[in-house]
Amino acid sequence: MFRYKRSFILAACSIGAGFCVFAVGAFSDPLPPDTTYRPLPTMPFSDARRIDEAQKPDVMKRQQDLLQRRYDLSDKPMPGAMMSGGMKPVQADIRVRLPAGVTWGELAEMKPAEIKQKNLLPEGFLPLPHVKQATGGQVFPNRQIDEIHAQEMRDLRRFDVDFDLPDNLTPEFPPPIFLTTHPELGDVSRGQLLTIKNFYEIMNGIVTPVQMEGLRLLLTPFPQEEFNQTEDRKVADQSTGVACLDCHSNFHTNAAFHLTPDVRPQADRFRLDSTSLRGLFNQQIHGSKRSLRSVEDFSEFEQRTAYFNGDHVSATRKGANLPDRTNQVAMMAQMQNIIDFPPAPKLDVFGRLDPELATPQELSGERIFMGKGRCADCHVPQTQFMDNDMHDLKLERFYKIGQVFNDFVALPDGPIKTFTLRGIKDSPPYLHDGRLMTLADTVEFFNLVLGVKLNEQEKKDLVAYLVTL
Ligand code: HEC
Ligand code: HEC
Repeated sequence: MFRYKRSFILAACSIGAGFCVFAVGAFSDPLPPDTTYRPLPTMPFSDARRIDEAQKPDVMKRQQDLLQRRYDLSDKPMPGAMMSGGMKPVQADIRVRLPAGVTWGELAEMKPAEIKQKNLLPEGFLPLPHVKQATGGQVFPNRQIDEIHAQEMRDLRRFDVDFDLPDNLTPEFPPPIFLTTHPELGDVSRGQLLTIKNFYEIMNGIVTPVQMEGLRLLLTPFPQEEFNQTEDRKVADQSTGVACLDCHSNFHTNAAFHLTPDVRPQADRFRLDSTSLRGLFNQQIHGSKRSLRSVEDFSEFEQRTAYFNGDHVSATRKGANLPDRTNQVAMMAQMQNIIDFPPAPKLDVFGRLDPELATPQELSGERIFMGKGRCADCHVPQTQFMDNDMHDLKLERFYKIGQVFNDFVALPDGPIKTFTLRGIKDSPPYLHDGRLMTLADTVEFFNLVLGVKLNEQEKKDLVAYLVTL
């Protein structure tokens, strides 16, 4: 594994010393050494900030170039399909760009080894890098940053990087909130983003005292790897930190991303897209790789390691919060466990489409989902369109591993948890790292990965079905 990176660096350097100097000079925040522990900061804050700010335009341009090469990021709404709050259109069409000279149909007819050998896997199917692999860390979308600043005067804006995807390819904001304890109320958010300032007013009389205390803790900021008071931070002013619901806005996702805590060295850590917390009450395993067995465990450990760096040592230095299992963690979990999926009016109690309500195209999509497409092998309708298992999709059958994208080494994903498909139209971008922008992209992806050879009409019907979930 190390050899991939070493050989890449050696190859780059062997072109000439001049190239090496250029490469290092352009992004002089080098990847940390291939070690488990994060090195201590070596520079005063003002120096680190100056260098980071000078690098930022190049860092962002490099990421935009990669995104433009991989995807069509334009705003193309799907006619008549809105996210659950009714304010934001679901995006249409395949956005992953094909390599020159092949069609999706031709690609699906080829054997994985042939696609790999001819280098024909669309680059957008490969793992998506973080904007800055060397540093990693949490990156929030602008609407989240602006709203938290407006309500709390707390700054989530980093000086070294910006969020990289356009607004049309992220979830609606703020998203609606549905409670298992009050289905009759529908969305209880009143169109607002829940924060430490307004939660009491919005939830008073709707939740129990225990749930209210859990909610308060989920909205309280605590120090984090990039948002803290030390010289090792990526925010201009000393920061009180980050709250759970800064990423899980209104218990949904806002597409904020990070690097996986579960992998080292730094160059191999893949991007991780925030997940929705809707329907958590039915999930038996948590995290795409960690497979933690309870919401309590997850809630406790996220803060223990400064949310997502998998590094309790560095977290301790910056001020870790160790929530008490009985008095705090249990209440945080109880609040999370009453967040429901958005209503799916066309589904019956078995998770099947009601033929009275669904269109012929949606019904056809359901038949493909259960049959030829084999989606229901893992996304089981009776259990909220997941199976509480992890699966290895073995995408590396289709591409040469060890390719480097913006300092990130693309290695096999290995087993990943099956995510639920309930309310899936509300959660772009897709897969654990957000590498796919639309539902149509996910259908092309699984058509290839599973080798199920769906025709053009079947793929369209399947997308129409996914929107009903
Ligand atoms: C950086 C933004 C961020 C913050 C802050 C954050 N999370 Fe998360 N959360 C994520 C991401 C990303 C995942 C997906 C992890 C994975 O797939 O391995 C996740 C996953 C989860 C899950 C598991 C969901 C599932 O379906 O497996 C739970 C539960 C959770 N978070 C709760 C919390 C709690 C409680 C806090 C505060 C202590 C918190 N999160 C803070 C980004 C965040
Ligand atoms: C072998 C099990 C398996 C089968 C079969 C399968 N999936 Fe999945 N699905 C997964 C796993 C595992 C993930 C998470 C992968 C990742 O994040 O890298 C996933 C993720 C997804 C996602 C993205 C979820 C999210 O929250 O981002 C969509 C959409 C999806 N699958 C649709 C389908 C469709 C449509 C089919 C049938 C054509 C299908 N899946 C067949 C296991 C499966």
